[in-house]
Amino acid sequence: MDKVPVITIDGPSGSGKGTLGRALARELGWHFLDSGALYRLVALAALDRGIPLDDAPALARLARELDVRFDVDSDAVWLDGTPVGDRLRTEEVGNAASRVAALPAVRAALLDRQRAFRQPPGLVADGRDMGTVVFPDAAPKFFVTASVAERARRRVAQLREKGMDADPEAVAAEIAERDRRDRERPVAPLRPAEGAVRIDTTGKRIDESLAEMRAHLAGSAPGA
Ligand code: C5P
Repeated sequence: MDKVPVITIDGPSGSGKGTLGRALARELGWHFLDSGALYRLVALAALDRGIPLDDAPALARLARELDVRFDVDSDAVWLDGTPVGDRLRTEEVGNAASRVAALPAVRAALLDRQRAFRQPPGLVADGRDMGTVVFPDAAPKFFVTASVAERARRRVAQLREKGMDADPEAVAAEIAERDRRDRERPVAPLRPAEGAVRIDTTGKRIDESLAEMRAHLAGSAPGA
């Protein structure tokens, strides 16, 4: 049986990959996997339950047993039947997510959960290791980047929109630290998959980057 096609979009946070991935999934009528949300949910549940962020066995159990539900259209997420809301996207939870994501047992526990999103007619998967580890047979594979300064600007604008104030320099320092942790970890480090198409979104509008991606899709028959 032919496998369900998958397009992977990896890259650092704030690069625009989530926005691009969602738009692409909508255009194609495919499913969408926000794998970062799974790591964030494990981190959030651990913070709430007082599980230390280095307790690998307890965190892996949590990752396996978490009851999560996503609604792609509204971008809403439920944890154990309760809506999670904006807390999932806070810096606190993002940083905790990058710590639990460095644990091999947690990554292994989330592997099957992520692969279960591969359903007809196709999947767009967004993360750090979608093309390298989770869906190595995906095509095409994208690697989306933007400068740290630009990503910090976008993040500050996003926070201000939600009524939260933020210091751009502090946000840039946190982004750089999170990048370092994601790139230097021994398991599934953030790096472009072999043959990945690089998209740099610095100074570009979303529709410009989306057009670049579409041009690659047109030339490569998605998932073939
Ligand atoms: O993409 P997002 O910022 O929501 O991801 C939060 C954290 O989860 C990242 O900093 C990264 O450490 C981790 N992550 C990961 N592998 C993925 C997706 C996210 O390690 N596929």
